[in-house]
Amino acid sequence: MTQTPPAKVTVGDKVIDLPILKGTLGPDVIDIRKLYAQSDAFTYDPGFTSTASCESKITFIDGDQGVLLHRGYPIDQLASQSSFLETCYLLLHGELPTAAEYETFENTITRHTMLHAQFDRFFDGFRRDAHPMAVMTGAVGALSAFYHDSLDIHDAQQREISAHRLIAKMPTIAARAFKYSVGQPFVHPKNNLSYAENFLRMCFAVPAEDYVVDPALVRAMDRIFILHADHEQNASTSTVRLAGSSGANPFACIAAGIACLWGPSHGGANEEALNMLREIGTPEKIPEFIAGVKDRRYKLMGFGHRVYKNYDPRAKVMQTSAYEVLAATGRENDPLFQVAKELEAVALKDEFFIERKLFPNVDFYSGITLSAMGFPTTMFTVLFALARTVGWIAQWKEMIEDPGQKIGRPRQLYTGATQRDFVPLSQRG
Ligand code: ACO
Repeated sequence: MTQTPPAKVTVGDKVIDLPILKGTLGPDVIDIRKLYAQSDAFTYDPGFTSTASCESKITFIDGDQGVLLHRGYPIDQLASQSSFLETCYLLLHGELPTAAEYETFENTITRHTMLHAQFDRFFDGFRRDAHPMAVMTGAVGALSAFYHDSLDIHDAQQREISAHRLIAKMPTIAARAFKYSVGQPFVHPKNNLSYAENFLRMCFAVPAEDYVVDPALVRAMDRIFILHADHEQNASTSTVRLAGSSGANPFACIAAGIACLWGPSHGGANEEALNMLREIGTPEKIPEFIAGVKDRRYKLMGFGHRVYKNYDPRAKVMQTSAYEVLAATGRENDPLFQVAKELEAVALKDEFFIERKLFPNVDFYSGITLSAMGFPTTMFTVLFALARTVGWIAQWKEMIEDPGQKIGRPRQLYTGATQRDFVPLSQRG
């Protein structure tokens, strides 16, 4: 991080010098940490549209150019040449692993996938029709009640064990949330399978027959995990960082991230996008739907992004995955896929979307892909949470290891009543 001559800001009759910080990529940042002390004024930025909340070395996005880099590596290269576990290592450690480092890491994650036997009782406490994200929020928070030996956030080794436990156990918890909702017995992890294949098996195997999965689906699952692994300071990641800034344990922080991710403007969008495609149903209904979006009766789910004002680079890879999965499952002519392709083409040519720089985001095609793989819509956000866990935990670790880290505590612009005296109930009429 380098510095340039300061920005001069006038507040009332005072001129204040504010340092300008330069990152390795991206816009400069005006350091306002001393602003309040020097000017008695706060800044106002709801939604953090102009505010950097931290310094980070993990992920870089150039929304105008449609660029996404993890530790400097473009997402399309990771998606086509790496594996999810290798990407996890990269996000956590900053560099790609050597062959020996990878083997150790894969071995560690594979051997942390089982859950404490007593943990399974948690699932029984939920109604069968509970949304799996409700189950995930509760179950992941409950991990802190089981793994007391890795809760000391000031111990680097314990932080690492918690990171491994979360990455390893998330597929087991997610698969159990799914199995519980469909009333099938839990399937235990199998150590000879890859991370993605093991997860698919835990979701779709039944005791009555052998489980065989098409390698194309394993590859697609792994790629979907890579695409969702991290996305710098989005709402759920910021939630994890904010929760962690108080010193909360990592399991509690990740549970907070899952709760935030559930919202339809964030991770819940893939579920909403597929529901939207089903409601549209046929390409002939698209003009009517687009008219409704312009009248602000509804949003085009899976379109638009706070940061990308160009095609989301993950959406391009996801579109390719959608083709591959639909071909592997014999659904090339899936009517929803036709609706999605047509809807995208219409929207990309329409002034309303062009003007607002609205492009497909990763969720536009992920729902169709996951549905073809056999997942119900309620599981979509769960899969997102599973994959994003590594990003959350890498960002959490980075925050804890940052010597400048402080408890997160935003200010406010107060517009409520000024001070007044209390009137007893008997005198209030
Ligand atoms: N459909 C229709 N109009 C939209 C959409 C959309 N999907 N997204 C934004 N707009 C419009 C807004 O109404 C606004 O119009 P206006 O200026 O005339 O009022 C303009 O575009 C700017 O939008 P904002 O809401 O200011 O953009 P913001 O950055 O706050 O929102 C968000 C980003 C929440 C992602 C939004 O685009 C959206 O709701 N999209 C649909 C949900 C979705 O797909 N979310 C997934 C995000 S990616 C992820 O989490 C993995």
